[in-house]
Amino acid sequence: MTADPASMEAPVPRHLAIIMDGNGRWAQRRRRPRAIGHRAGARAVNRVIDFCLQRGIGALTLFAFSSENWGRPVEEVGALMKLFLNALEREVDELDRRGVRVRFIGERALFTDAIRDRMVAAEQQTAGHQRLHLSIAASYGGRQDIAAAARALAAEVAAGRLRPEDIDEAAVAARMALADLPAPDLFIRTGGDQRVSNFLLWQLAYTELWFTETLWPDVDADVLQQALDEYAGRERRFGLTSAQLGAEAAP
Ligand code: IPE
Ligand code: IPE
Ligand code: MG
Repeated sequence: MTADPASMEAPVPRHLAIIMDGNGRWAQRRRRPRAIGHRAGARAVNRVIDFCLQRGIGALTLFAFSSENWGRPVEEVGALMKLFLNALEREVDELDRRGVRVRFIGERALFTDAIRDRMVAAEQQTAGHQRLHLSIAASYGGRQDIAAAARALAAEVAAGRLRPEDIDEAAVAARMALADLPAPDLFIRTGGDQRVSNFLLWQLAYTELWFTETLWPDVDADVLQQALDEYAGRERRFGLTSAQLGAEAAP
């Protein structure tokens, strides 16, 4: 791993995680129904995928629908599900062509059979790609993710395959969503709120956080580049000192 801030080449995040927030407000400002904002938000997803492919970002994780979002009005949840199914029907071939591997994290059992079947099909169709690992967090919650890992560990202990004293950070990490990817280097939240809203709680431990007022449907390459530029200037110390990292002369 190279972490030399003095290097000429600005570091690009290997893994970018995004809370795509602000669709509803985008629509409301136009006096349109919130569903219109979600549709515009889906177009922005294509822009961020293009951006990652162009910049050589190897993994992108998008928060599309949280465990808590099920509590929204039924019409809005219905509109989101329809959009989700449409996107699964329309976009997967294009992702496949562009070398994008897609997968879904979250509580799948809560979706309809039609959506679940499409998720599996999309994952199978794109499983061989390496260029960009796209993870869509849908019906996902960070606490749910941690609880599922705890449940998996408990089951292994109960089955006699694991001893409680062998449960360490690595054992937990291995049972969390996205265990096969490096942790996100950069987190972006659009829409102006500065909170994590139960996204990747475990995986974000040392992620650089970046917030923008821009509403998700307005996100373009310029906004994403701003985030990357700021990321490139940050010193990631992981609990150590600047001097230990061999960074520029510390005062
Ligand atoms: C994000 O936009 C999309 C989802 C949560 C599904 P919002 O729908 O939360 O938009 P705002 O935050 O209300 O503007
Ligand atoms: C977070 O946005 C979830 C997604 C973007 C999918 P929310 O709009 O649900 O978050 P809160 O309610 O403002 O914290
Ligand atoms: Mg929101």
